[in-house]
Amino acid sequence: MNTALIDTARKMPKAELHIHIEGSLEPELIFALAQRNAIVLDYPSIEALRAAYAFTDLQSFLDIYYAGASVLQTEQDFYDMTWAYLQRAHADNVLHTELFFDPQTHTARGVAFGVVVNGIHRALSDAHEKWDMSGGLIMCFLRHLSEEEAFVTLEQALPYRDKMIGIGLDSSERGHPPEKFARVFAQCRELGFHLVAHAGEEGPSAYIETALDLLQVERIDHGVRCIDDPVLMQRLAREKMPLTVCPLSNIKLCVFEKMLQHNLLTLLDAGLTITINSDDPAYFGGYMNDNFAAIVEALPVQRHHLQQLARNSFTAAFIAPDIKQKYLAQVDAFFAR
Ligand code: HPA
Ligand code: ZN
Repeated sequence: MNTALIDTARKMPKAELHIHIEGSLEPELIFALAQRNAIVLDYPSIEALRAAYAFTDLQSFLDIYYAGASVLQTEQDFYDMTWAYLQRAHADNVLHTELFFDPQTHTARGVAFGVVVNGIHRALSDAHEKWDMSGGLIMCFLRHLSEEEAFVTLEQALPYRDKMIGIGLDSSERGHPPEKFARVFAQCRELGFHLVAHAGEEGPSAYIETALDLLQVERIDHGVRCIDDPVLMQRLAREKMPLTVCPLSNIKLCVFEKMLQHNLLTLLDAGLTITINSDDPAYFGGYMNDNFAAIVEALPVQRHHLQQLARNSFTAAFIAPDIKQKYLAQVDAFFAR
């Protein structure tokens, strides 16, 4: 085991760009919130819930992930969940974080949009005040629902648009191609939001292309199936299109059988703008530094790869150019030591 390299990865300044905040709900907090809100869970204990985290594919995870999110009722619940994640991120030397949230999971249960966004946003503001951590919220549309429902959600979001930096697309990928959401993404673009979409996680590489061409996204979340299309890979490299890769997630959801088979280093060496992220850390076995430790242990990662990954995380972030330069200088100063 390369402890020196893992130590470098742990200490280096980094940004996280692919974290579903509902996926940071640890079983302990699920049980605490269930008790606070007098909700009866289907699992008798924290251990029984954790034992159910044996996923075979994306859908088997999503079923349990949406069930876990059902304990979130009040603004304070959303605050507590987000604050718990931000403390973990801060401990992992994450200086900037962009959080996905799934409003439709909550509004469908009668929780108001404002309750969700205000709770999450207040935690992010506190992290900025306390640690100078920067960040933003990216609202995701659930792709297993209709585009019409996405339009309704966008309407609900408009009073809170100042609290959000972007729009994403998540949930069940297969059978729900990006083009299903072309009109609503066009409207989001006109509203000035940054755009991202999950593509090429379980779905085919063609979904990466349509996310780029029809949704005009600025980053691809996951995107690892681009390996099936060399021409697309060349395009991603040429256009410096960031892929927010989530190593532990990909193993837990059986996108790759073993970390040793993960293609992230191949993609990085081919010149793609790869970043490392935790996706749903409470469900997939760890936060940012756990993901870095896992790739360093399994793959022939070298020091220059870590510097590139740290740089990419800030290059791909939706932040003002002057702040981006400040962060990149911090990365380079760290690696110059
Ligand atoms: N993929 C798609 N949807 C999701 C994920 C994911 O990894 N995590 C939470 N929602
Ligand atoms: Zn994701």
